[in-house]
Amino acid sequence: MMGDREWLAKQLARELDLISCREKNSRYIYRDKKPIAHYSIVGRGGIKELTTVVVDPEFRGQGLSYEILEQCQGPTCVFTKNLALINSLEKTGFKSAWWPGFIPFTVMMFDRIWRVVKMVLTLDFKRCLHQSRHLFSYRMFIRK
Ligand SMILES: CC(C)(COP(=O)(O)OP(=O)(O)OC[C@H]1O[C@@H](n2cnc3c(N)ncnc32)[C@H](O)[C@@H]1OP(=O)(O)O)[C@@H](O)C(=O)NCCC(=O)NCCS
Repeated sequence: MMGDREWLAKQLARELDLISCREKNSRYIYRDKKPIAHYSIVGRGGIKELTTVVVDPEFRGQGLSYEILEQCQGPTCVFTKNLALINSLEKTGFKSAWWPGFIPFTVMMFDRIWRVVKMVLTLDFKRCLHQSRHLFSYRMFIRK
């Protein structure tokens, strides 16, 4: 049977908007003991960031994005350009925002630089190019 990490690698390979995350921050949703969705919640200095949100294509359109958003407790931010996710974010109280606060901004800026270094080191040029090209399409959403 396909392991969690293996399943996630398959989703990451297909969805170039996703970024990889640390294994210890990975959370999965299972059906019949198989992973069908993944997300990660990481502290960013006073605010949490939800990243690496993906639902297996076979299970999309069943409301799993809401199940994921329910797991976000306290101030949370999300960067995305995915219209389905934007729809669920707006329906669950997230608002489009520009500024997460000085400390989260600084923490996230270093995290972004590290992400680019990681993509280059792992020779993930396809993702790096895709995300650079769409840099200004990603919007930030915050729920306080
Ligand atoms: C984003 C994603 C996680 C959504 O998961 P999902 O479980 O299929 O979403 P849901 O079934 O909960 O649907 C969410 C809402 O979006 C709507 N929706 C679906 N496709 C849409 C589209 N193209 N445009 C606008 N809304 C859309 C649905 O109708 C639903 O709205 P409703 O509750 O008002 O009916 C999934 O599409 C995915 O894995 N995408 C690829 C990875 C990705 O881009 N992740 C985001 C990067 S941060």
